[in-house]
Amino acid sequence: KRVVVFISGGGSNMLALAKATAEPDFPAEIVAVIADKADAGGLAKAEALGIPTRAFLRKDYDSKDAHEAAILAELDRLSPDIICLAGYMRLLSATFIQRHEGRILNIHPSLLPLFPGLHTHQRAIDAGMKVAGCTVHFVTEGMDEGPILAQAVVPVVPGDTSDSLAARVLTVEHRTYPMALRLMAEGKIRMEGGRAVSKSLG
Ligand code: GRF
Repeated sequence: KRVVVFISGGGSNMLALAKATAEPDFPAEIVAVIADKADAGGLAKAEALGIPTRAFLRKDYDSKDAHEAAILAELDRLSPDIICLAGYMRLLSATFIQRHEGRILNIHPSLLPLFPGLHTHQRAIDAGMKVAGCTVHFVTEGMDEGPILAQAVVPVVPGDTSDSLAARVLTVEHRTYPMALRLMAEGKIRMEGGRAVSKSLG
């Protein structure tokens, strides 16, 4: 299966996916990394691994639609089976999602449906949560609300700051995203009728 990964920043999740998919028995390969920032740290990491990269900068386009159209045209050339958003900080339009419905995954640093949106770790701490974690979900038109493929839980410990909790959650993100991608690439989970459907595992 052909995978395209979208990043905006450091790309630690992209790196985890790149390492996992490099294993000979992994049923997917990353064919390109796309960024919406020229200085996304993940671009250099992908290039160091020999993964083709493309940057599409919003300022180079007259509108959000033109920016997306350029990315969609590139995706038509790359023909991905799966698109992984990994620290991609831009909302996709309904047009984009409809074009690739059921093929787009995202990793969100909270246990959805709790704490959609930003500043998830501080919000979990402020709410007095004793656990936090990450969610891999299908991307649908609403933000952070698509069907869930996988989640992982970490403890919130007294004295945690958003940074210490973020670091703890990242460690399980880097395990959970590759695991979810493998399930998707093996056809063991797919989106059907707006829900994540697991193939009968028996
Ligand atoms: C991570 O917390 C991830 O869950 C969120 O963006 C943060 C940075 O991700 N989507 P990365 O290091 O750029 O992969």
